[in-house]
Amino acid sequence: MDNGGVPSVRWNRYWGRSYDWSADGDEWSGQAAYSGQPYEEWKASLVDAFLRPAIEPSATVLEIGPGHGRWSVELAALAGRLHLVDLNPECVAFCRERFAAEEKVVCHQGDGSSLPEELAGAIDFAWSYDCCVHMELDTLEAYLRGLASALRPGGRAVLHHPGRRNRWLGLGFLRHLGPLRSVYQWLSMGRDTAGGGDGDRGNISGEAVRAAATRAGLRVVAQVDRWGPSGTYDCRRFRDLITTLERPSA
Ligand SMILES: C[S@@+](CC[C@H](N)C(=O)[O-])C[C@H]1O[C@@H](n2cnc3c(N)ncnc32)[C@H](O)[C@@H]1O
Repeated sequence: MDNGGVPSVRWNRYWGRSYDWSADGDEWSGQAAYSGQPYEEWKASLVDAFLRPAIEPSATVLEIGPGHGRWSVELAALAGRLHLVDLNPECVAFCRERFAAEEKVVCHQGDGSSLPEELAGAIDFAWSYDCCVHMELDTLEAYLRGLASALRPGGRAVLHHPGRRNRWLGLGFLRHLGPLRSVYQWLSMGRDTAGGGDGDRGNISGEAVRAAATRAGLRVVAQVDRWGPSGTYDCRRFRDLITTLERPSA
């Protein structure tokens, strides 16, 4: 149920209504700093680990929650066609203008939980970074069902999402009780987040994502919190995870 609180779909309208996008997303360098890596290197490592090996030049790619296109630029360089779906009309308008010269980029305004029907069976690869971390499980689960339909058989999705400790999820209501939010942060994240509170993360664990993906008919390929040579790079600041899912071939 959408109660308007952090991080409901209604709360996520904030990215369109009042967020200061003057750095177009490159201000989110805290995860790189937490992993002890320069931001540009950390960003390139995500492209090298998750995007470059997965995207053929002819691939049709989907991104959920592109914002101002921080990752879309990389996706557009690799893909044959790119669909961007964002909840906020302001972000969709920005991407339309930013990619106006690129015929292969198609921008869609979404309703915050479903994918355009026209994408059914058309997507080879889907990506979402720094978007699903701000979802509650019912919203993410709706997207997983949408991905099970949008991906072609054998197609894959790579999603960055919260990875709170599963055993405390039942106490997630504490997030809405003032100072108890930081108690819940300590219980469910269990580590110093370098001053970022709980990063407005949804009440989601890695286990919950794996179970929801399986219910949606997707196969869990991998779930990681670090990547690159010897796991040099990571997204552990808020205990996040990156999960790779596949629509099984019939
Ligand atoms: C923190 S920004 C990240 C933007 C971009 N992914 C990046 O990493 O630079 C979150 C983005 O997700 C979008 N968003 C939030 N909730 C969404 C939802 N339920 N469905 C689709 N987009 C959503 C917001 O409008 C915003 O563009």
